[in-house]
Amino acid sequence: MRASIALFLLYGRLVLASRGDISTPYQECTSVCRRVHSCPSSFSHQRWTSGDCFWCKYDCMWNAVAVFSSQGLPIPQFHGKWPFYSTFWAQEPASAIFSLLNLLTVNEMRRRVQRLGEGNEERTEYSVMRRVWIGYTIVGIVTWVCSTWFHCTDHLWSERADYFTAFAFVLYANYAALLFTFPSLRRGWRSSGISTVCLLFYLRHVSNMSSHFDYGWNMALCIGCSVCTLLTYLVYLFRRWRRFGSLSSLRRSDRMLLLVLTWTVAAVSMELHDFVPFFFSVDAHALFHAATIPLPLFTAHFLELNHRESGFEYAKIV
Ligand SMILES: *[C@@H]1O[C@H](CO)[C@@H](O)[C@H](O)[C@H]1NC(C)=O
Repeated sequence: MRASIALFLLYGRLVLASRGDISTPYQECTSVCRRVHSCPSSFSHQRWTSGDCFWCKYDCMWNAVAVFSSQGLPIPQFHGKWPFYSTFWAQEPASAIFSLLNLLTVNEMRRRVQRLGEGNEERTEYSVMRRVWIGYTIVGIVTWVCSTWFHCTDHLWSERADYFTAFAFVLYANYAALLFTFPSLRRGWRSSGISTVCLLFYLRHVSNMSSHFDYGWNMALCIGCSVCTLLTYLVYLFRRWRRFGSLSSLRRSDRMLLLVLTWTVAAVSMELHDFVPFFFSVDAHALFHAATIPLPLFTAHFLELNHRESGFEYAKIV
């Protein structure tokens, strides 16, 4: 982020040096914001993320973009972010809308999972996994509500809510994958053990990040958990493959799981791109949110297929 601000200042200097002016238009403009709206001197202060200071800085950004374009210079980043069209209801409208759509599909998954195994509640093997998946969709719903909130208004609380619920969702996915792949973990003390370990791990992370937030560390943990989830399902698929003898004889549910895993990896890789947002509205992060919209539906389909195919097998394994 600092590098891009430095680069921006350098560009500005070059532009204006040719006109005999040493200050940059963006700096000059935001210092007017400071005078008019008494905005704080440091841009990392919360007051810059919403209200008068946000919109004043927003106008300065587009003024600077206009200056850059008129000089034929590339579009700069501002404080580590590409310029973005904001509306009165959302600072990042595309990401907010895609988060809402994710909320709808994960709620649809909740509905479908709740129907699964209805009438089989007396069989604990069913009801444990059913409860785990319902829990997963509820964590997902909270996550997407917070994500929508964060993309509408960026401030300290919405940001923390977004990051902490996203981590909960990723960790819960790992927990569900373990219980799904290793049915023996669903029984008795093992099940309470693994739930407690996950909960303590989560609380420790949240309390650590609340005292000093570290984006890199948070991201590293999210990626680490996701890789564990992926590996767990690969173990599951490997066992299925060994059992059925060949890839072609894998059941429909297994192929659906492969689709879910491949789609997830492809969606996450969207985040790795960095480009000037399309129409200054759809950036890499918005594309990532768009790509994950169908995932809960695929996952629900996978669980339904799996439930149909192996209904009788739970009894044998447990
Ligand atoms: C707390 O976060 C820091 C990174 O900011 C990390 O290095 C450290 O290991 C974390 N501690 C715990 C107990 O998770």
